[in-house]
Amino acid sequence: MYICLCYAITDKQIKHAVREQGVGSMRELRQTLNIGGQCGKCIRAAQQIIDNTIIDE
Ligand code: FES
Repeated sequence: MYICLCYAITDKQIKHAVREQGVGSMRELRQTLNIGGQCGKCIRAAQQIIDNTIIDE
């Protein structure tokens, strides 16, 4: 499912970044996937995926 429509980034890509690339915050996710720099509507959903993925570990 697309989370960030502006940059075509999916929830899978975000989970992968958390699990495989050590992303633990929205700032780190931005540096890794370049997400959220356009309209910013995806930021809350992306943050939630980061949090949930970390809790799942
Ligand atoms: Fe992510 Fe617009 S949906 S910046």
